[in-house]
Amino acid sequence: MTSIRGKHVMITGPTEGIGRATAFALAERGARLHLLCRNPTKAEALRTELLSKCGEVDVGLYLADLGNFDEVRGAAGTFIERNEPLDVLINNAGVFTTRRILLDNGQEQMFAVNHLGHFLLTTLLLDPLKRAEQGRVVVVASDAYRFCRGIRFDDLQWNKGFSAFPTYGHSKLANILFARELAERLQGTRVTANALHPGGVRSQLGAQNTWYAGRILALVKPFLRTADKGAETSVYLATSDEVATTNGEYFYDCKLKKTKPSARDREQARRLWEVSERLVGIGPET
Ligand SMILES: NC(=O)c1ccc[n+]([C@@H]2O[C@H](COP(=O)([O-])OP(=O)(O)OC[C@H]3O[C@@H](n4cnc5c(N)ncnc54)[C@H](OP(=O)(O)O)[C@@H]3O)[C@@H](O)[C@H]2O)c1
Repeated sequence: MTSIRGKHVMITGPTEGIGRATAFALAERGARLHLLCRNPTKAEALRTELLSKCGEVDVGLYLADLGNFDEVRGAAGTFIERNEPLDVLINNAGVFTTRRILLDNGQEQMFAVNHLGHFLLTTLLLDPLKRAEQGRVVVVASDAYRFCRGIRFDDLQWNKGFSAFPTYGHSKLANILFARELAERLQGTRVTANALHPGGVRSQLGAQNTWYAGRILALVKPFLRTADKGAETSVYLATSDEVATTNGEYFYDCKLKKTKPSARDREQARRLWEVSERLVGIGPET
C-alpha cells in the first residue's frame, strides 16, 4: 500500500482515546473512514469534528455495541451493502470493568466486547477485506495478556474467580490468539492480520468504574503516554509498506515484539476460534 489516501478503513471505538487519535491521524492522510461507534451522539460529534478539522474527509458512521451480536451483524451488513473493498479493519474498541457484568447474551462483558464482537465483525467482513488490493486487520491488544496463563475454555463467562486485571488480560490474550489464528487462515490471500500493544495510554479506559478505580487511574495518569503516541503503532500497521506482507505478529512502538508462549499457542488459538464461532452463532453447524 503506497498510500492510505482514498482507502477504506474501518475503526471500532473511535470516539475516545487511541481510536479517536487513530481516526484523526488516518483522516489527515486522506483515508475514507468507516467508524463503528456505540453512542450515536458521540459518533455525530466526532464526524462533525473530523469534517471541520480535516476538511474533505469521507466519514461513514456505523452504530453497534460490540457486546450485541445482532448490532454487529447489522453494522457489517451495512458496510457489505456498499459493495466496496475494505482495505483496513482496526479492531480497537475495548472495555475494562472492575465488576463482573453479564450481558443479555450470557457473556461476560470484557470477553464479549473485546474479543467476541470483534471476532464476529472481522469474520463477517472477510470478503470485502479479500477484495482489497492488500487488506489488513489490525488488532489492538495489550501486554495485559500476561495477567493470565491461558484461555479458560471451561469458564469463559468467569462464573468463578472474576478479577478485573486477569479477566481483562484474558480478553486481550484472546485478541492476540485471534490475530494469530486469523493470520494462519489468511495465508494464500492478500490479507494480513497483526496485533499490537499501544503502551500505557491516558484515555477513558476504565473511567466508568468505581471511584476507587478512578483514583488509581488518576494516580498513574502522569506516567501514561498520550493517545496520539498510543495510536502510532495502529497507524503504522494500517499504512506502512514495511509491514505490507507481515502476518500473525505482535508489535509495540512500531517494532516486532516477542510474546510469551501463552500468546503463541497454536492449539489454543485454533480452539478459541472454534469456540468463538459457536458463541457468536456462526460456523459450520449454523
Ligand atoms: N489505555 C491503555 O493504556 C491501553 C493499554 C493497552 C491496550 N489498550 C487497548 O486499546 C484499545 C482502546 O482503548 P482506549 O485506552 O483508547 O480506551 P477508551 O478511551 O475507553 O476508548 C474506548 C473506545 O471503545 C469504545 N467502546 C467501549 N465499549 C464498546 C462497546 N461495547 N461497543 C462499541 N464500542 C465500545 C468506546 O466508546 P464510547 O466512547 O461510547 O465509550 C471508545 O470509543 C482497547 O482495546 C484497550 O484494551 C489500552
